[in-house]
Amino acid sequence: MSTSEKSKKTRVQFATRLGVIATTVGSAVGLGNIWRFPYEAGTHGGGAFMLCYIFFIFIIGVPVICAEFLMGRGTRSNIFGAYRKLAPKGKWFYAGYMGILASILILSFYSVVAGWTLEYFVQSVSGSLDLASMEEYHARFDEFSTGNWRPVLWTLIFLTLNFLILVRGVTKGIERMSNILMPVLFVILLIFCINSLTLPGAGEGLRFLFHPDFSKIDSGVMLGAMGQAFFSLSLGLGCMTTYASYFSDSTRLAKSAVITASLDTAVAFLAGIVIFPAVFTFGFSPAAGPTLVFEVLPSIFHSLPLGAVWSSLFFFLLLLASLTSTISMSEISIAFFVEEKKMSRRSATVLNTGLAAVFGVLCALSFGCLGDFKLFGLTVFNLFDYVSSNILLPIGGMITSIFVGWFVDRRFVRDQLTDFGSFRLKMLGVIVFCLRYVAPVCILLVFLNSIGLIQL
Ligand code: PHE
Repeated sequence: MSTSEKSKKTRVQFATRLGVIATTVGSAVGLGNIWRFPYEAGTHGGGAFMLCYIFFIFIIGVPVICAEFLMGRGTRSNIFGAYRKLAPKGKWFYAGYMGILASILILSFYSVVAGWTLEYFVQSVSGSLDLASMEEYHARFDEFSTGNWRPVLWTLIFLTLNFLILVRGVTKGIERMSNILMPVLFVILLIFCINSLTLPGAGEGLRFLFHPDFSKIDSGVMLGAMGQAFFSLSLGLGCMTTYASYFSDSTRLAKSAVITASLDTAVAFLAGIVIFPAVFTFGFSPAAGPTLVFEVLPSIFHSLPLGAVWSSLFFFLLLLASLTSTISMSEISIAFFVEEKKMSRRSATVLNTGLAAVFGVLCALSFGCLGDFKLFGLTVFNLFDYVSSNILLPIGGMITSIFVGWFVDRRFVRDQLTDFGSFRLKMLGVIVFCLRYVAPVCILLVFLNSIGLIQL
């Protein structure tokens, strides 16, 4: 028995083709689309940001997802093991460590926002989220997030939920849940969209989001859009590699990459179309930052008939979408601890959750008592977010694209993307070209531009 056959026998696999799409989309779609995308677009001028975002998703994101997929399925390993197997003598595996670090940083601040979602779910169910004005919604969030103990408690409760799902293993927990719930979230967002389009500020909101003002595209907008694209696609840290290691041999990688990127972008755009008309109708500032969505959404629900029901349903689904994302980011380090460090799945999950809990508490407190504690001018929460999304993920993506584009055996790449030549893939040349030249060069230019070394 060859080693790849042996590892195939001992590793679990996603059971169905729909399961593959549902889990990768489940990883991609989450708070990144509904919380982070609107606030990033809002702080970076709307239309200008969108234009850069679409470029990064489809010209860089899709080829890099293909690269991560083929590394994972071809080696059937965690991110560290994948680099190790493909380049036994090289030092590429350091990129694996970087991905693992990024996954823990992201899990920490992500759990805080997921904790806010829990709080808002409970407030919706109990009917206490029904306030009269924008100022009151603003004050409500402020009071909650600066209150220290509740945000910390919710962060820890969320991490516990994440833990409980993870110890049950890969296929059972994740696959079943995502299959059912992602489509429901999509439909709910569509309904909210239709509602937002009837608001008086709809025209202004859509213009803000979709009318690009080219003069606003600067280094900050480009870096922000690039970071958001990587974050939203769960890319650059080995998440897609880890998931692809559970794909079956007949999964079409490039097609799955395109479907994942398209659905993920569709959800982000829907979220934008829900949020921005309301931002302009109710008088919020689009540049409010991380708190934007938690103040605007409740105002939307308030304006709907049966507001409390919609709001409970929405925060519940958002919570599940967050869980399918945190499960995927936790799986990066868990697969690493289990396969490379020979830990039991349970201890690996305890370690992952423990690290995220310590950092998560610091992130949660950075809206309250640690608000004045700043490193490089950023609170712990903002620092973790900035460093992981805008630096670690794009660097991870750059290394992946250079590695697969230049160093991995061409035949291996072709075999993975075409299921050993069982069909013709017209995009093959384009994907390889983007991996070799377009992705690394663009990512490098955005970096050099943002530290002021060049002027684009
Ligand atoms: N893509 C997820 C989201 O949009 C977040 C995520 C980042 C998940 C990195 C896994 C890895 O919510």
